[in-house]
Amino acid sequence: MHRSIPSRRLVELLGVFERTPAYVGLADALTVLIGDGRIALDVRLPSERDLAAGLGVSRTTVTRAYALLVETGFAVATRGAGTFTRVPGGRSRAHDQALTPSRHSGVIDLTCAAATAPPGIAEAYAAAAAELPAYLGGHGYFPVGLPALQEAIAATYAERGLPTRPDQIMVTSGALGAAAVAAQALVGTGDRVLVETPTYPNAAEALRRAGGRLVPVPVDPDGWDLDGTIATVRQSRPRAAYLMPDFQNPTGLVMSGPERERLGAALTRAGTVAIVDEAHQGLALDGQEMPPPLARFAPGAVTIGSASKLFWGGLRIGWLRVPDEVTMDRLVASRLSVDLGSPLIEQLAMVRLLADPGPLRAAQVDRLRRQRSALVAALSERLPAWEVRVPAGGLCLWCRLPVPAASTLVAAAERGGVAIAAGPIFAVDGGLERFVRIPYARPEAELVAAVEVLAEVWAEVSRSRTVERAAGRTARRASDRVIVA
Ligand SMILES: Cc1ncc(COP(=O)(O)O)c(C=O)c1O
Repeated sequence: MHRSIPSRRLVELLGVFERTPAYVGLADALTVLIGDGRIALDVRLPSERDLAAGLGVSRTTVTRAYALLVETGFAVATRGAGTFTRVPGGRSRAHDQALTPSRHSGVIDLTCAAATAPPGIAEAYAAAAAELPAYLGGHGYFPVGLPALQEAIAATYAERGLPTRPDQIMVTSGALGAAAVAAQALVGTGDRVLVETPTYPNAAEALRRAGGRLVPVPVDPDGWDLDGTIATVRQSRPRAAYLMPDFQNPTGLVMSGPERERLGAALTRAGTVAIVDEAHQGLALDGQEMPPPLARFAPGAVTIGSASKLFWGGLRIGWLRVPDEVTMDRLVASRLSVDLGSPLIEQLAMVRLLADPGPLRAAQVDRLRRQRSALVAALSERLPAWEVRVPAGGLCLWCRLPVPAASTLVAAAERGGVAIAAGPIFAVDGGLERFVRIPYARPEAELVAAVEVLAEVWAEVSRSRTVERAAGRTARRASDRVIVA
């Protein structure tokens, strides 16, 4: 039994598309919807006649658009059965698999922005195991976290100029668990939620699943469009705003102190709850001081933290800092619908790690700095036409391609043995085909080898007819902003 998408739904998803000429605009819009996973794979598209009627275009327009999709690998036509969605390179490149590790052995997997464990993690686990017996007489459930860990995490905020009581901290299953708990607790069906685009796609999905209607605001390689963002806050008065001011994933940008102050004030005035994801906050690689937490300027903000980036993803430890403006009970109720607390041994290990994070942080920062240099050097040598702003920290390079061909590049790269994430994965409502994200979380030799493959693949891709066509269209676009939709 094939799934299909009704013409009415597709017309709704397509919205307004470029009509110069209409078949190219329609094919582009469909490509973005398929690439972003908003139309699933193996779904039958409406008949040409139905879609033409729904869109008010000629049947030839739809026929030619479908033919273009087939030509670029985003659909397959089966005689008598219809046109079905695909992605170039097959299901393993689809959006719903984007952040899962590649299952092909031998592939250099750069889809995940998380490093291997620095030295010291195994020791922390061993110490935690030695402490465990003291807890075995209890039930082992800590729905808001092990008190010693709540205390240690609260102290990290106080150090950053944000006084915090231990009872304001909820320990969660990673920062993503924290985002999901916050989304469930704070966002209701139909609520508007402001999100940056590009954004961290898993959190965006958590907000969508909570019923949120995402209101995207652009972040381009130059930074936040703060005036535009504040105007959007004022006009649409979103219920919540999911923001990453510290080494934004994927752009690596840091919002300045004055920008935080302005945005924090605007959110507070609008009654919008800021959900501030600081997962990458600890990764300042150039010895710089970070601006104060956004919650300093938006006192009602809920802040998300993570052990994954500075320490290790396998800990699965994240947390929420809950302001007095939002009651902890609400978040606890939401959390209890998912789990009853984080594993004790990991919490004990994390207490250890936070007791003396200095050496581990130094090792992690030093390694990431070297890997960042290696990746930047390899890209500037082998792919000089790509624009890369070197971020002052975090884990990723957000690379701008000279032509919008990210999905084609990514599919071809995977065939060549390198997996990276294409821009559309991070786009809230389409576009970003000019970007790819390359994390520098892997060892230098792997990064250099990956760039070799990317350079070879890019040479082929950029010669292909599809790209030439796409480049022509892009040149006609009036604005050069990242968000094209
Ligand atoms: C911004 C952001 N939030 C959350 C997460 C998820 O982190 P965790 O491993 O703590 O769940 C990530 C990981 O990539 C991230 O980049």
